[in-house]
Amino acid sequence: MSGSDRVVLLPGKVHPRVRERVEAEFEAISIGAADAGLINEETRGRVRGIAAMTGITADFIDALPNLEIIANFGVGYDAVDTHHAAKRGIMVTNTPDVLSDEVADTTVGLLLNTLREFPKAEAYLRAGRWVTDGAYPLTPLTLRNRTVGIFGLGRIGLAIARRLEAFGLPIHYHTRTERKDVDYPWHTSLIGLAAAVDTLIVVVPGGAATEKAVNADVLEALGPQGVLISVGRGSTIDEPALAAALADRRIAAAGLDVFADEPNVPQALMDLPNVSLLPHVASASVSTRNAMADLVVDNLAAWLDGRPALTPVPECTGIDRAAR
Ligand code: DGY
Repeated sequence: MSGSDRVVLLPGKVHPRVRERVEAEFEAISIGAADAGLINEETRGRVRGIAAMTGITADFIDALPNLEIIANFGVGYDAVDTHHAAKRGIMVTNTPDVLSDEVADTTVGLLLNTLREFPKAEAYLRAGRWVTDGAYPLTPLTLRNRTVGIFGLGRIGLAIARRLEAFGLPIHYHTRTERKDVDYPWHTSLIGLAAAVDTLIVVVPGGAATEKAVNADVLEALGPQGVLISVGRGSTIDEPALAAALADRRIAAAGLDVFADEPNVPQALMDLPNVSLLPHVASASVSTRNAMADLVVDNLAAWLDGRPALTPVPECTGIDRAAR
């Protein structure tokens, strides 16, 4: 392998702008899935970068002896075995910042849909029921006088907080460590946060540390007026416990953009009237996804040109480009 080779692997489904730019700026190798069996021995040794929109396992990483960088499409990178990559000195990047406002906008929309039933009201109008049945029923829930708790006050959480502050709502939060740069009340535990608010917005990253963190006890603490909004990763929510709490009205409603086993949504949630469901679209506008695609390719270009990565994930900030 020559160090000047700029060979980038495109495994599985890839955003069209990522594909277009990688094919124009690097030597691109496309394979149907992140499966080392799909690349021959000689080619495996030439791969220096991966543009990833799919899971990247330790085995796949180990099958590529000269891999230097995995550029993940998305701010969430739980599908990449980052600890293994970091151990091998392989850089992992993600796409923060460029999507924060879009995701925060969507979160506010989902919250309003959940409380004020706008999708159902539109379906009612389109079905001609305004004419036949009269006005859509008044919604039992409203955003007015709510207290919001944000689980995960990172870049996106903060963008959500700022928006809801402008709606006149008090904001509380729970993170592992208290932020010194905000005045919102911090809660040392998620259950403490849930007990203090009636609207819980979950925006933490996925992975083992947050697996099923929103469980039956947290929902119980949120209470019968409680509304849960989830826009981080589905793995953070105990979905059967949520469906049971919604069915028994132990919480009032939920709005979900993410699910544990996408694109499969549990039938128990689909069947409930008090849940608003979106197909993981929080960042899914053309312009925001293009900005994410550009950041994926700009990270690959920087690294393969011998410059530092633009947006390394925290586990990889210590990886020294110059030391390679
Ligand atoms: C992300 O960036 O992680 C969002 O979930 C969009 O995929």
